[in-house]
Amino acid sequence: MSTSGWEQKHMVKTRKPATKRRRIKASSNNSAADHDLQEQLRILREENDILRSSQQLTPPVSSQHDAVPTRLLPHEVRHERARVADSMPIPGRNAPYFSLVNDFLTIGFIPWADPLVPAYFLDKNYRIVDWNTAFGVAYDRTMEGRRGLSVLEWVYFLDNYEECMRTATKDFGDPNNLPRLHVETIHYTSLRYGRTTATKRAYQMPGDNGEVLGWLVTLDVNFKDMPTRLQFNRDLLGTLRRDLTWSEYALSYDRVLNSTKVYPDLLNHIIGEYSPVRTRRPLAKIRANSRILDLGAGTGNLSLLLASQLRDHVVFALENNRTMLDLLRAKCSRFLRSDDHGPGVLAIKQDVNTLYGLPEASFDYAILNNVAYALDDPLPCFRQVRDLLTPEGEIRVSGPQRKTKLEELFAQISRDLKSSRRMDELKEDYNRVWDINRYILSSNLYRWSVDDMKGMLKSAGFTEIEYDTDSAYAGQAMIVAARK
Ligand SMILES: C[S@@+](CC[C@H](N)C(=O)[O-])C[C@H]1O[C@@H](n2cnc3c(N)ncnc32)[C@H](O)[C@@H]1O
Repeated sequence: MSTSGWEQKHMVKTRKPATKRRRIKASSNNSAADHDLQEQLRILREENDILRSSQQLTPPVSSQHDAVPTRLLPHEVRHERARVADSMPIPGRNAPYFSLVNDFLTIGFIPWADPLVPAYFLDKNYRIVDWNTAFGVAYDRTMEGRRGLSVLEWVYFLDNYEECMRTATKDFGDPNNLPRLHVETIHYTSLRYGRTTATKRAYQMPGDNGEVLGWLVTLDVNFKDMPTRLQFNRDLLGTLRRDLTWSEYALSYDRVLNSTKVYPDLLNHIIGEYSPVRTRRPLAKIRANSRILDLGAGTGNLSLLLASQLRDHVVFALENNRTMLDLLRAKCSRFLRSDDHGPGVLAIKQDVNTLYGLPEASFDYAILNNVAYALDDPLPCFRQVRDLLTPEGEIRVSGPQRKTKLEELFAQISRDLKSSRRMDELKEDYNRVWDINRYILSSNLYRWSVDDMKGMLKSAGFTEIEYDTDSAYAGQAMIVAARK
């Protein structure tokens, strides 16, 4: 197995940094001082690298992508364009000099697009549409599973819910005279952070036609003290980092795995097309005309495979990472649709921990391909899937197992890339996928055996195990299929 650059730089150093530190000596000799300074910087950088690796931070993106250039207009181009502007009475063209003190500071803190600011979006009927990660962390995920419900379902959680309901009745009561901005104070006792107070700003959002589309609500939260705020920041950064890891994974795993044989084999195995594993009873083919849930659909390889069978499947591809979903939409563009009245792929941003909003007893299959391990506890997801499946419906779960040997899987992937002559081109992506698996995802990979998975499916209400194997995906993954 080759050793990646990231590993060499970050993971293999075991020396204790402090023992190597030298103090910079005051010296009249400048070059000696320079040398000492350079040495000190080098040691600090090395310590930093060790610190990063001990915290298992995501490997840095390669340096060629690091620097985002700042663009400047050449003076004469800017001058020419300003001359054109001078001929028009454009508002703001002659705005007074902007002062950081008088203008910027008086505008103050504007909590709009900052990912650290909790925010959510309501439609014009005050139903919950979406919320950001910061909101989920600060407010104990109180909107999970409530998409489509009235925002009242969330207001009930507030300490001052009665006051908020009275204010809403007064200020939003006249549909012909809605506020453009509505500000109020909310109080919430968090399970993790105790009492919080927030300034809630609801901005009226018009659609492209100018009519009210909904409300963007931001929450400027005050925690009881600084340690609590810092704890919130730490929790939020951890959650964002996990999402960022999936984004980084998305860009590389798709290129790597689609250039192998083992991964398409796994996809075909799980939909019953062919199985590279010899078993007494093969996994049945997905029936034509099926309604299928592809949960944690990633970049859409399984959804695309199902849609390209042209067997009239309606595939609901549910995924909560935006980068994955962007790639999925591009990949499945030929089949995308926004209703479920015909064959195709519906791409939906959704956390599969909560499947509220999908019609019960209406799906023939639910597939989680390499996804269950990414959930802290897949049981709530399995239970909801049970309710969404028809009486004959089937769940199929694949993923790593307790005895998985990641090195063997990656050795196979490496062999596949070499035999398709794509290893040189994909070396960096391969290393990234390998690093993310062994350093970041590994803590979740080896949690269950086939029997554990069967046990979990039984606890979720599935009674019949249709199929199981512990030898899928180059012999390293399990697949378990079950019915209610
Ligand atoms: C290893 S990838 C597998 C993707 C895809 N099923 C495939 O076979 O290519 C795991 C996927 O699960 C997604 N995921 C993780 N947790 C999720 C959650 N709670 N809700 C929805 N998707 C999730 C990740 O964003 C990622 O796309």
